Amino acid sequence: MLIYAGSASKYFGLKLARLLGVEYVNTETRKFPDGELYIRFDKEPRGETAVLVQSMYRTPNDYLIEYLFISKTLKELGAREVIGVIPYFPYARQDTRFKPGEVVSLSVVLELLEKMGTDRVVTVDTHLHRVEDIGEISKIPFTNLSVMEEIGRYFRDKIRKEKTIVVGPDEEAKQWARIVADVLQVPFTVLEKIRLGDTEVEIKAREEELIEGMDVLIVDDIISTGGTIEAAVKRVKERGANRVFVACAHAILAANAEYRVFHEGVEELVASDTIPSPYSVVSAIPVVAKYLSKM
Ligand code: R5P
Repeated sequence: MLIYAGSASKYFGLKLARLLGVEYVNTETRKFPDGELYIRFDKEPRGETAVLVQSMYRTPNDYLIEYLFISKTLKELGAREVIGVIPYFPYARQDTRFKPGEVVSLSVVLELLEKMGTDRVVTVDTHLHRVEDIGEISKIPFTNLSVMEEIGRYFRDKIRKEKTIVVGPDEEAKQWARIVADVLQVPFTVLEKIRLGDTEVEIKAREEELIEGMDVLIVDDIISTGGTIEAAVKRVKERGANRVFVACAHAILAANAEYRVFHEGVEELVASDTIPSPYSVVSAIPVVAKYLSKM
């Protein structure tokens, strides 16, 4: 097995190779003056399984194109199998046609990966709540790992067990809140979210009696504009929450998101390293390494 990484995930790839005890192959990626990509590997993958690591955050289209170039070329150069490790998988929220005429971006991305030589995909906490069976839209095996247990373990020594509740900002976040709450052995609840637009949401608290006087750990998969977390923090504070912590798998942190997360008085924001950020104190790399080593 050889590990390759696109420009989004060099550290992730290097550390993954080290944990697996396999070779990391350096990939030179640069742009020509006109913006086109130049890519070259230090070693061709002839006959080997090639693991290609590329998280697709913040500039997903650039990272996706780079990934497709590398995946296709690894296959062309004789890789026995190409395993795409995509720690943050983009376009997963556009998994259906909400309005007539819309592009179902998730199926397009999956088809591109398959057509460009990827044999299987490994991701972390991909937002797949409407897709019950990814096999219906993906022709290649798709494994969705989770970093939520690691997030739970991070908070073990930080919380007062009898005084803490885990809160998901919406119904979809129940799956992540439940895992973190199980690890911490504390209760969890979810709020009700109505999306008003790309950056604004309204959040209602249904079980306010559980929040009064408690420390609250809000858990979600993604923080993008910070609108969801901002509204959730406001709501739990209004309902009498004591200290408020926030955790997510993927800190996309679009413009102004940090202000929106912190301005109501959040104690700490914790994220995983699927997307590098100053808050990436929990690592998804051992989770991916464990999975690959079992394959
Ligand atoms: C959507 O349902 C996701 O689970 C997140 O809640 C959402 O993507 C967060 O986005 P934002 O930070 O822009 O509110």
